Amino acid sequence: MRFLFSALVLSLSATAIAVQPVLKLRSSVDEWLKTEANVSRQAVLNNIGADGKWVQGAGSGVVIASPSRSDPDYFYTWTRDSGLVMKTLVDLFRNGDAQLLPIIEEFITSQARIQGVSNPSGGLSSGGLGEPKLNADETAFTGAWGRPQRDGPALRATAMISFGEWLIDNGYTKIAADLVWPVIRNDLSYVAQYWNQSGFDLWEEVQGSSFFTVAVSHRALIEGSTFAKNVGSSCPYCDSQAPQIRCYLQSFWTGSYILANFGGGRTGKDINTVLGSIHTFDPEADCDDVTFQPCSARALANHKSVTDSFRSIYKINAGKAANQAVAVGRYAEDVYYNGNPWFLTTLAAAEQLYDALYQWNRIGSLSITDVSLPFFKALYNGAATGSYASSTSVYADIVAAVKSYADGYVEIVQTYATSAGSMAEQFTKADGTQTSARDLTWSYAALLTANMRRDAVVPAPWGQTAATNLPSVCFATSASGTYSSVVITSWPTITGYPGAPDSPCQIPTTVSVTFEVKATTAYGENIKIVGSVSQLGNWNTGSAIALSADRYTANNPLWTVTVNLPAGSSFEYKYIRVQGGSVTWESDPNRKLTVTSSCGVKSVVQSDVWR
Ligand SMILES: *[C@@H]1O[C@H](CO)[C@@H](O)[C@H](O)[C@H]1NC(C)=O
Ligand SMILES: *[C@@H]1O[C@H](CO)[C@@H](O)[C@H](O)[C@H]1NC(C)=O
Repeated sequence: MRFLFSALVLSLSATAIAVQPVLKLRSSVDEWLKTEANVSRQAVLNNIGADGKWVQGAGSGVVIASPSRSDPDYFYTWTRDSGLVMKTLVDLFRNGDAQLLPIIEEFITSQARIQGVSNPSGGLSSGGLGEPKLNADETAFTGAWGRPQRDGPALRATAMISFGEWLIDNGYTKIAADLVWPVIRNDLSYVAQYWNQSGFDLWEEVQGSSFFTVAVSHRALIEGSTFAKNVGSSCPYCDSQAPQIRCYLQSFWTGSYILANFGGGRTGKDINTVLGSIHTFDPEADCDDVTFQPCSARALANHKSVTDSFRSIYKINAGKAANQAVAVGRYAEDVYYNGNPWFLTTLAAAEQLYDALYQWNRIGSLSITDVSLPFFKALYNGAATGSYASSTSVYADIVAAVKSYADGYVEIVQTYATSAGSMAEQFTKADGTQTSARDLTWSYAALLTANMRRDAVVPAPWGQTAATNLPSVCFATSASGTYSSVVITSWPTITGYPGAPDSPCQIPTTVSVTFEVKATTAYGENIKIVGSVSQLGNWNTGSAIALSADRYTANNPLWTVTVNLPAGSSFEYKYIRVQGGSVTWESDPNRKLTVTSSCGVKSVVQSDVWR
């Protein structure tokens, strides 16, 4: 049934460009993401104790992987998943979602307690931070497991640092220094001490050295060092180890893709590497190969290798052309639940491309090298090595192709999410039915980050631009840091920031601007908006944002789209009329808009008439 339904949608969109849509079968990716982001945010909160409605019994601030208590039992808190999920909530909070503050505080309080729980991996200062998961009530899990897993402390540090930097930026340096830094310091100490020892990968199967773990460890120590300075301390063990981790990271490059693991006896093509790239994305970075930035030639070549490895092995991917997105799993050899695509991995494939689009737009050009040529060729027939400025039509065509390819991954997730927006861990390769753990917290966090990147809402930089030089020799090394047991009894009241519940004036950081333009169009014509900011494609018609004709009638030929823009920002824009490859601009002058930054105003409508 679902298969026939999507086949119908595909054939409709291929043949008819709706001027007056009669039938609305499935909402567009834009529309769906608006609802699904809200569903996902709520689902994440439902999986966090003590108040999360799906996880009764979980400790306060404890992030549960899934409410599923059998087949499989995921009713535990994994440090990796928790770190990634909390980083997502911190990003939302820093972007104006003020209600998340108590959850973030409870998380840090709970992690201070959890760091002190002795477990089969050790105690606080003897390796215990590498324990992969604990029980929901914060007691140690003592069964057999693939331990240790060394990515957890790094990812948890990254989440807490992002919140700590926000505290500093908002005048709460003392809270950052007294409450948050000692918890972060334990995690950084672990990373500096153990990064060069083997452990289990993020899928808990391969004992060896994992690209994802090494990449996120490097990032944590770089930003950890800056954070230490910002709270008046220092992190010499971060400074001594980070360049060595970066040095080691280079050995994962095979020449055509990123090796996921040393160890494991597989091809090493694994979404592990794409996750490593997106979770070390720095919005200020260039397309740097050394840190495998999302737009780097290495990471793009790897994106193609990894996603291609799933094309022929999943029945639901049958018939997809090389320029079409496919359902993505962990790695081709996977046999867990029979080896299926996952939601978070399919979303990761989209997110890397949204990151890359952001980077190209910011840089103002894109380069194709011998390494990345196969990636580009699959999406754009005429691709050739060279550098293309954002003013060229080749650039415009390529970014348009990459954007629609990225959206294709989201469409797959939309197809296999339930109509209420629920996402389990996996959907079957045979027919896309959801399987394994229900309501996986990480699936929802992955939706939220992909959605933010798609809207060019990016996380704070972590310092990549100052972390690209390589030591001439890589050493096996380690450094010891400082472990201290931390008890957070309460958080001082944090007030007065934009959006604070007690703030007299709540100014959102972004405003949803709905552009409405009356433009009578002929069959096959579409209206787009393009402007001087990245959210509107930096004047590249290839990155212009399409308006929807959902509200179009003969009497009221309305085209609309909603774009999130920074409150208070000013920019210029125009509408364009697009038919096939031809673009007609509105007449001069450019339109100008300053986005409101007023108390409580989160959305505005800008009404225009085509000129
Ligand atoms: C978002 O989700 C919440 C909780 O499920 C719901 O109550 C609310 O109406 C939703 N808001 C929007 C704008 O969809
Ligand atoms: C430790 O680092 C050295 C130097 O980069 C590297 O050769 C070795 O494989 C690393 N071992 C592990 C387990 O990370």
